[in-house]
Amino acid sequence: MIPDIELNNGVRIPQLGFGTYKLPPERTRDLVLTAFDAGYRHVDTAQMYRNEREVGQAVAASGLPRGDVFVTTKLNNAFHAHDDALAAFERSLDALALEFVDLFLIHWPLPAVGLYPQAWAALEEIYASGRARAIGVSNFQPSHLTRVLETGTVTPAVNQIEVHPYLRQDEVRAFDAAHGIVTQAWSPLGRGTVLADPVIAQVAARHGVTPAQAVLRWHLQRGDVVFPKSATPARIRENADAFGFALDADDVAAIDALDRGERTGSHPDQENRTGR
Ligand SMILES: NC(=O)c1ccc[n+]([C@@H]2O[C@H](COP(=O)([O-])OP(=O)(O)OC[C@H]3O[C@@H](n4cnc5c(N)ncnc54)[C@H](OP(=O)(O)O)[C@@H]3O)[C@@H](O)[C@H]2O)c1
Repeated sequence: MIPDIELNNGVRIPQLGFGTYKLPPERTRDLVLTAFDAGYRHVDTAQMYRNEREVGQAVAASGLPRGDVFVTTKLNNAFHAHDDALAAFERSLDALALEFVDLFLIHWPLPAVGLYPQAWAALEEIYASGRARAIGVSNFQPSHLTRVLETGTVTPAVNQIEVHPYLRQDEVRAFDAAHGIVTQAWSPLGRGTVLADPVIAQVAARHGVTPAQAVLRWHLQRGDVVFPKSATPARIRENADAFGFALDADDVAAIDALDRGERTGSHPDQENRTGR
C-alpha cells in the first residue's frame, strides 16, 4: 500500500514511515508494533532519541523478515570526529540488535564545529563495509552539501530537513534534486501546528479526509519521504492512510501559499548542541 522511492544507489525506501522523536522509551516498542500493524515498514530513529533499543525490540518482536523493514538512525552531534563516529555506529547496531541499518545519517552539520567532512568519511567506511545499506545527511544546507560533495566520494542518498506547509524549503529541495539526493521531510505536520490552519481544513473537507492526511498527501505528491510521529494509535493508523485520494492543482497551490518560512526546530547554521 505504501509506495517505495529509489535512492541514488538503487536501495528502495518506503515513502512513508514512522517517526519516533519524543516517543517515551517505555512506550516505543508497543507504538512501533502498532505502526507495523498499520502497514508501516519504515522507522526513523536516532542516537539522540534514546529509543534505538526499543525500536530494535519492536523489529524483532514483529516477526517481519529483516528485508521487509527499513530502519534509519542518525549520528549524535557529540561524535563527529572520525573514530568517535565509527564507535557510535557500533553502539547503534548493538542497541538496535541489528547486523545492518538501512540508512545512517549525520544528524546535524554543526558548521561551527566543522568536523562533518570527517564524520562523512566515517560514514563512507561504514557504507563500504555493508553495515549501512545507504548513508546520508540531515539538516544540511546547500553550502554544507557542497563541501561533502567536494571532499567525499559517495553522494549522500538523502538529506533529511524540516519541511511542512509553513516551511516549503524550495531552495534546499531543488539543490537536493539537482544532485540526485532524496529529500526527507521531518516534522511533516509542523509538530501539529499546521493542522488547525483553515486552508488545510478546507482542502481536507473537500476530500473527506483529516487535516493530517491532507498535509501528508501534499508531501507525498511533492515526492518527499515523510515519517509523521504519533504516540496515539488511532493517529498512527490515520497517518498511514494518505494514499486513496489525490490533491488537485488548486489544492496544492492553496497549501503552497501557506509558506511563511516558519521553523519548529533550529536553523542548521545555528544548531550547535554537542551534548550526548
Ligand atoms: N533530523 C532531524 O533533525 C529531525 C528533527 C525532528 C524530527 N525528526 C524526525 O521526524 C519525525 C516527525 O517529526 P516530529 O515528530 O517532530 O513532528 P510531526 O510528525 O510533524 O508531528 C508530531 C505531532 O503531531 C501530532 N500528530 C500526529 N499525527 C496527528 C494526527 N493525525 N492528528 C493530530 N495530531 C497529530 C503528534 O501528537 P501525538 O504524538 O500526541 O499523537 C505530535 O504532537 C520525528 O519523529 C523524527 O523521526 C528529525
